[in-house]
Amino acid sequence: MIRIAAAGDVHFDRKSHNRLAQHFGNLQDKADIFLLAGDLTQTGHPDEMQVLAEDLKKCPIPIVAVLGNHDYHLDQVETVTRILQDANVTVLERNCIVLNIKNHKVGIAGAKGFGGGFVGASGSDFGEPEMKAFMRHSKNEARELEEIIKGMEADYKIVLLHYSPTAQTLYGEKKEIYPFLGCYYLAEAVDYGKADIAFHGHAHAGVEKGETPGKIPVRNVAQPVIRHAFNIYTLDKNSKDHHKMERISTAEVSGEVH
Ligand SMILES: [Fe+2]
Ligand SMILES: [Fe+2]
Repeated sequence: MIRIAAAGDVHFDRKSHNRLAQHFGNLQDKADIFLLAGDLTQTGHPDEMQVLAEDLKKCPIPIVAVLGNHDYHLDQVETVTRILQDANVTVLERNCIVLNIKNHKVGIAGAKGFGGGFVGASGSDFGEPEMKAFMRHSKNEARELEEIIKGMEADYKIVLLHYSPTAQTLYGEKKEIYPFLGCYYLAEAVDYGKADIAFHGHAHAGVEKGETPGKIPVRNVAQPVIRHAFNIYTLDKNSKDHHKMERISTAEVSGEVH
């Protein structure tokens, strides 16, 4: 059984020192890997990421992250990525890592993803150059991700995103902003890539559980949704129902989460 701790949208700022360190310190008792689903900072300032990196250094298990739109805001992606890497965090953007956990190959394919909307209410690659660029970016993210998932040689295939592959986990958000919260192209990548589960964040007012059209479980782990430092999920291919995810209660997050 593979145990996955996952959280997104921690939105650290310069004053967030030690906000989550106590929860990360003994994670080895609870999980085998820790996934971070983007929006790690408020504005993508290196000082903000440095504060989070100090907390993450307390974490004894492998950490894999994608960035979110907030982390892109100040155009310092390279710098904030390096800060995470210096804290032993693997940062994925349209690439993957395969870890050996309990003699299983656990593959994590990661990308930020992008918006675009969902079937029947999506943008299209048509019209003005700006609209075409928007939808092409979304499609390129998803199509590259699909190839990466397919190419992973792993017993377990996990997809880590910031944007949502399904509208189901957006329930509670204003419908008008769904096209800015995710895109059905991402679900196609998850389904055609035959992933076991997908995690995302970004939808602070959404719900935790959903699935793709191909019935792959999707979990929105944005902290305002899960209201804990992280959730823990198990993956077990030997069990009859290996897609079943158990939520294990963890300590409530202290302090305000935006
Ligand atoms: Fe967020
Ligand atoms: Fe976001």
